[in-house]
Amino acid sequence: MPNTTTPVVLFDNNQVVLSHIKWAGSKLKLVPTICPAIIDEIYAILNNAEGDTGVHYFEPFAGTAIIGLTLANILGESLLSRNNLSSFHFYDKNPYLVELMHAVQIPQPFAEDDIREYNCASGDLRAKLELFHKWRNEFNSLVNVEGESRRRAELFWLLNQACYNGLFRVNKSGFFNVPFGSRVNLPDINSGGFLGRLQRLRKIFNSDLRLAFKAMTAPGRMDDYCSPSAWVKDVVEPTSSFIYCDPPYMAKDGEEKVFTAYTPDGWTQHDLYVLCAALEFMHKDGAHWMMSNSDAIVPILDSLFLGDVAKDLFVYQTGVRRSISADVKSRGKVNEVVITNFESRSLEPLRIVWQ
Ligand SMILES: C[S@@+](CC[C@H](N)C(=O)[O-])C[C@H]1O[C@@H](n2cnc3c(N)ncnc32)[C@H](O)[C@@H]1O
Repeated sequence: MPNTTTPVVLFDNNQVVLSHIKWAGSKLKLVPTICPAIIDEIYAILNNAEGDTGVHYFEPFAGTAIIGLTLANILGESLLSRNNLSSFHFYDKNPYLVELMHAVQIPQPFAEDDIREYNCASGDLRAKLELFHKWRNEFNSLVNVEGESRRRAELFWLLNQACYNGLFRVNKSGFFNVPFGSRVNLPDINSGGFLGRLQRLRKIFNSDLRLAFKAMTAPGRMDDYCSPSAWVKDVVEPTSSFIYCDPPYMAKDGEEKVFTAYTPDGWTQHDLYVLCAALEFMHKDGAHWMMSNSDAIVPILDSLFLGDVAKDLFVYQTGVRRSISADVKSRGKVNEVVITNFESRSLEPLRIVWQ
């Protein structure tokens, strides 16, 4: 139960950090809904803890990491002032995303010449298209090349900004193949304090970030590392941990291959079952968690979680959005929900209307 002496957090939209990439399934629009609920629970963890434990935040499907980065922005100073006990851990299976997160933490100009060259070719989409193809070829030539991490991260960011809809897709050989998006200008990631903001977060990430990323991006599927010990037990005390999971969404039609836009081998129903089994362990260990998904997950919650865990879960609705798809016709409406193992006073409980 939430601590009733803790006020529900009033959220100021200015506290949302800017997203450094475009990413399918980004929770940018849901930050004002999701973050206050998490902050409320984090304060409940701190208030109920015996002694000064800090809070350990885990985001295993980080993508843009907009939820965790916003939390770190809002809570960072107050958590760090507690003897530096708190930590933020981000993971993602997409290796380029992880490489980019590491690269932008190093305070050096990022892709400055490329951005200038693209933006200087004002109005000349042909020149921009040529530049895009040059970057794509260079990126693909560096796919498995050691020692090129920073340049690959720059190219990944440039392609993400200039490609169609910010999609990430590779062919069977692992080469990026998303077409040009005809974007007129690229944002200047180097100005406006944008990079500085990400770099300042470094003190929160500290070495835990690297260790966590290393563990979670190890080769193999969820089964290999989706165990409570990999995420929580060996690292910190489970009861002082908050885990926000935003896995690829369950398809409405229950297809086996759910989403292949992020990683070549996709995300399957089996992965979802393994994740839920891990969340079940974490629940029993006393960890606090929230999982985002589409409402297609609601009817099968009983089969995803054991009965004694399912009865402790709460389902809240967080909004409706259009799903990302290269094919405009197949972009359907997705009802979004979050499932939590704690009761939230700021989220709206799901009212199911059976038809
Ligand atoms: C819905 S997106 C997360 C979006 C994120 N919450 C945001 O706001 O940007 C799902 C993420 O899970 C990652 N992913 C896919 N399969 C994974 C796996 N097996 N293990 C870890 N991450 C995975 C994808 O690369 C993608 O970034």
